[in-house]
Amino acid sequence: MNELKAYLEWQRQWVDTALKGVLPDPAKRPRILHEAMHYSVFAGGKRIRPILMIAACEAVGGQRETVIQTACALEMIHTYSLIHDDLPAMDDDDFRRGVPTNHKVYGEATAILAGDALLTQAFVLLSTPQPGIDARLQQRISQLIAVAAGAAGMVGGQVVDMEAEGKNSDLETVNYIHRHKTGALILASLQAGALLGGADEATFQRLTQFGENAGLAFQIADDLLDIEGNQEELGKDIGSDQARGKATYPAVLGIEESRRQADQLHRQALDCLAPLGDKAQALRAISAYIIQRTH
Ligand code: IPE
Ligand code: IPE
Ligand code: MG
Ligand code: MG
Ligand code: MG
Repeated sequence: MNELKAYLEWQRQWVDTALKGVLPDPAKRPRILHEAMHYSVFAGGKRIRPILMIAACEAVGGQRETVIQTACALEMIHTYSLIHDDLPAMDDDDFRRGVPTNHKVYGEATAILAGDALLTQAFVLLSTPQPGIDARLQQRISQLIAVAAGAAGMVGGQVVDMEAEGKNSDLETVNYIHRHKTGALILASLQAGALLGGADEATFQRLTQFGENAGLAFQIADDLLDIEGNQEELGKDIGSDQARGKATYPAVLGIEESRRQADQLHRQALDCLAPLGDKAQALRAISAYIIQRTH
């Protein structure tokens, strides 16, 4: 676990340095927008999606430098999704990444626009030619990230999440929500990492299956942390799912069974990596971390 902590920290710092280079200068006009973008990106996220992209790339024999621009884009899309998720019109939360939410500091209009700007800036990065990356491959990756972020992915999941508030949802609905609102971007991170690392078709499929399991497990763990987590350590409001009547795993299956399902998804995720050998060690450790994490 200590080894993993050091690994995550090392990768996180590298991603953060790269993110600093791709965000607009907060000293330049429109300052308030640039400041708001910086505020949420650098409030202290775990960078788990960029790190999964790196780990997938390395698991298939690639170099982490190959994915950095794509990894930054994905983290910007993720951060935009958090800013909008916290808005009064959505989850109406006050804390995120250990600090007041974007709209609490900058107001709703600027928070909406900072989210919009992060999303569009991500596609500026994704559509900027990258030395050493085949243009057709880059196009394929941009498209898979766009699909994962949009109506067929994260945004679609968010809509069903909102629709399901205050209702008695079944497991099928919760699975739809979780696989889309959270699973889709996690899966896209792994697929982008695999493709940029040069994975063959069979390995790409294995990492896809790994991503499907790990993505769902990630949101089940998030649901459990909303009940059992420590607000300070988590850096965001706890208890807000129950207060809003959210469709979550614990709401449908209870805490014990939710934990069991997360464990099982982790075991299935490990099975998918079996043929990859030692190179997939980081992915194995991250999968364990996903279900054991305390923030
Ligand atoms: C939180 O994601 C929102 C979900 C999709 C579950 P993370 O737990 O990765 O949040 P950060 O990026 O570390 O703040
Ligand atoms: C978030 O799900 C999924 C997103 C697309 C942001 P949650 O609403 O459970 O995420 P948290 O708990 O606020 O981070
Ligand atoms: Mg939400
Ligand atoms: Mg939320
Ligand atoms: Mg949550």
